[in-house]
Amino acid sequence: MRIRESCAPVCTSGAARAAFAKEESQEMLKKISTVPFRGTPEQEKRLQAVIAACKDDKSQLMHVMQEAQEIYGYLPYEVQVMIAEGMDVPLEKVYGVSTFYAQFSLSPKGETNISVCLGTACYVKGSQQILDKLSELLGIGAGECTEDGAFSLEACRCIGACGLAPVMTVNDEVYGKITEDDVAGILAKYRA
Ligand code: FES
Repeated sequence: MRIRESCAPVCTSGAARAAFAKEESQEMLKKISTVPFRGTPEQEKRLQAVIAACKDDKSQLMHVMQEAQEIYGYLPYEVQVMIAEGMDVPLEKVYGVSTFYAQFSLSPKGETNISVCLGTACYVKGSQQILDKLSELLGIGAGECTEDGAFSLEACRCIGACGLAPVMTVNDEVYGKITEDDVAGILAKYRA
């Protein structure tokens, strides 16, 4: 990991989404990634094998969801539907578990993943403002991915570089002692 000081995410078809919109709450819709689902038949085969092995024991739901996230990298709507149907549990239950536990992500990681530390040392030095600026420039919130899959944004806890606070990482690069004004310049490097 390189360290720099300052400037240096189910085929979500329209029909499926519309049907979902009717059935589920607005709050639920807000959390669903708009990045098109790109699951492969091989991934589905692996997931269905996990479901087949666990479907008679509903206490295995968490395990199935963990396996699904391992297979797909996140838990898109289409995968949640597969799990709900396969395990014969309400979709709301799968969704509820996926949003309750921080280990589950509803958005894929972008080609460029940006993570802003909101640990105490970074927070008191303005990392929330840096996260807000990134959110404004990328048009996504923390935990989301841009529709083209290019960028994802997340907040994280202390990464052990408090001496460089406030800190953000872009893929495996660490940027320390950054200010709000540095953000656009750093982003530009990854947009090229
Ligand atoms: S609090 Fe941000 S690196 Fe430690």
